[in-house]
Amino acid sequence: MSVQKEVRKITTNTLQRMKASGEKISMLTAYDFSFAKIFDEAGIDVMLVGDSASNVMAGHETTLPITLDQMIYHAASVIRGINRCLVVVDMPFGSYQSNSEIALASAIRIMKETGAHAVKLEGGEEVIDSVKRIISAGIPVIGHLGLTPQSIYKFGTYNVRAKEETEANKLRSDAELLEEVGCFGVVLEKIPAMLAKEVTEKISIPTIGIGAGKYCDGQVLVMHDMLGINTEFKPRFLRQYLNLYEQVSGAVQQYIADVKKNDFPSESEQY
Ligand code: KIV
Repeated sequence: MSVQKEVRKITTNTLQRMKASGEKISMLTAYDFSFAKIFDEAGIDVMLVGDSASNVMAGHETTLPITLDQMIYHAASVIRGINRCLVVVDMPFGSYQSNSEIALASAIRIMKETGAHAVKLEGGEEVIDSVKRIISAGIPVIGHLGLTPQSIYKFGTYNVRAKEETEANKLRSDAELLEEVGCFGVVLEKIPAMLAKEVTEKISIPTIGIGAGKYCDGQVLVMHDMLGINTEFKPRFLRQYLNLYEQVSGAVQQYIADVKKNDFPSESEQY
C-alpha cells in the first residue's frame, strides 16, 4: 500500500494566521507550468499570475494589452504545476473597470477555467463595487494600491507613489476600505516604507510589498527580475538572486559551438 504524504495547502486563512504570528509571506510571479512547479516545490507561499506577463512573456511595454483569455491560459498552466501554494490571478485591464457585473463575469471565468484560488484587482474606492460583488460570489480578492501599472498613462511614470500627503491619505483610506469589504490582503507597490508600515499596522489583513519596504507582512517580486532573466530592469527595491540571462546565454553558446564542431551528439548520445 502506498502512503500518500499529506500536503498542507496554503489558504487565505493561512496568510491571516501568518500575519498574526509575524511569519513573513513569500510571493513570486509565475506564468507557466515548469516554473510554477519549481517555485511550489521550493516552498513559495503565494504565486501570482501577474499581468506583468504582458511585459515579460509577451514583450509589451505595459500591462494594458494582455487579455482575459491570455491570463486564463497562463493561470491554467500555473495551476497544473502546483500542489501546495495559493494561486492568485491578476484581473487584466478592461476586465473589471467598466462595471461590477462585467467584473464578476471576468472573475468567474478565471476561477472556472483555471482552477485558481483568488483574484487581484488594482485600485481602491473607484473599483470597490466590483471588489464587493466578486467577494459576495465567494471569490477571494486581494487589492493592489500604490503604483498600479494599469494606470501608467494616468501617472505618466513608474516613480514612487504616495509621497505627497493627499495621495498617502487616499491610499490609507483605500486600504481600510478594501479590508472593510472583505479582501484577504493588499499588495502595496512602490510606496514609502514608513507609509507601508503604518498601513500594515493599521489593517488586520496581510500587506504584501513590492518596493514598499521591510515592514509589510510579505514580499512579492516578478520572477524574471529576481532570477536575472530581465537584466535591464534594476530598480533599487530589486534583489537579483541569479543571473539567469548569463547562464542561459552561456549554455546556448556552448550548445551552438558543440553542434558546429560536430561534438554533439557523441557516440553515447545516439541510437
Ligand atoms: O503583475 C504583477 O507582476 C504584479 C506584481 C508587480 C505585484 O502585479
